[in-house]
Amino acid sequence: MNRIAPLVVLSFLALACGREGASSELASRSQSVCGTPVVPETVRIMEGLKPTCEGCHAQGARGYFASAEAFQSLLVADARLVKAGNPDDSELVRLLEGRGSGAFKQMPIGEKSYAQLVAEGTARLPVADVRAWIQGLGTQQRDARPNADAPRITRMTGTQVQRALYQQLGLSNADFFIEAFEFGIPMAESRGDDLYPLQSPDMVPAPRQQPTAERYHGLGGGSVMTQTSADRTASPTFALTLTQVSQRWCRLALAKSGNVALFPAGTQRTANPVDVKATLRRWSMHFLGERLTDTQVDALYTRVFVPLATPTDTEPAYVGVCSYFIRHPHWIFY
Ligand code: HEC
Repeated sequence: MNRIAPLVVLSFLALACGREGASSELASRSQSVCGTPVVPETVRIMEGLKPTCEGCHAQGARGYFASAEAFQSLLVADARLVKAGNPDDSELVRLLEGRGSGAFKQMPIGEKSYAQLVAEGTARLPVADVRAWIQGLGTQQRDARPNADAPRITRMTGTQVQRALYQQLGLSNADFFIEAFEFGIPMAESRGDDLYPLQSPDMVPAPRQQPTAERYHGLGGGSVMTQTSADRTASPTFALTLTQVSQRWCRLALAKSGNVALFPAGTQRTANPVDVKATLRRWSMHFLGERLTDTQVDALYTRVFVPLATPTDTEPAYVGVCSYFIRHPHWIFY
């Protein structure tokens, strides 16, 4: 119990930040975590500078112009750049006036300083406005919490795809490979390419057949052995390879006797809509960790399962929904 308590308080604070009507006790406690809210004048300054700056500062650690919140927390609340109440001591002003004290003398980078750009009419917001705004700023508090909305998704690597699918589908290397030796070195000998085996050349045992490694590269997996760098983009080759692999492997998993990964003991694999929908709910949790609403379950049932089911055979329909979850962006990216 004791170990859970601080967690509960933290998540409570996270919710309380920036909300109207939070209790005063919470509000005062959250002072130490929450950042100073954005004031309208800050938004005006940001909008005024934006046309000159956003080309280089729209994302990443210096993505000041991505949003008003980014401007506030990355620039305004960073005392190294903006000294509230003291424009002369603010690096931002120095940069705009062409006398920066760090690695860069001026912003924007280029021939002319921002002040000169204003003078010749290329930039609109006068530096005097920036000075006056900083002069009037109260003490700034930087938001100490990580931004829950910050994009931090990455695509799974080829190796992760393989590992995740083995685990979620109840498959293993033994389903695809038998042990073989080449000059005494252990190799993974494919049981047949129609099983769509995939293996990184860097794994031990390494794949003996070429298509096995090609499929791995199709998933973007890099390799030290073959000196290919990893490709983490969601390229067409990646999507195509994942589609093929997921469909083939879902079928293998469904056909594997004694495999309880997709249908644990006590669950029904029938064409009965009630059973099917129970499976769709379970698989959404299993593959994506997401609970489906009734509407979502119904849509998935009618749009994916039903069109693929035949009167005598539910296998293609179950393969279809199984691979649907694996091709889902929430599966591919994390
Ligand atoms: C042509 C690209 C470009 C433009 C336009 C540009 N910047 Fe930058 N800015 C950079 C680069 C490059 C850096 C160096 C740091 C980095 O991003 O790694 C930088 C750094 C900064 C820093 C951090 C300085 C420090 O010492 O830490 C601030 C503040 C800044 N820029 C503000 C602005 C503002 C305000 C504007 C518009 C008036 C602007 N920049 C326009 C490229 C640009």
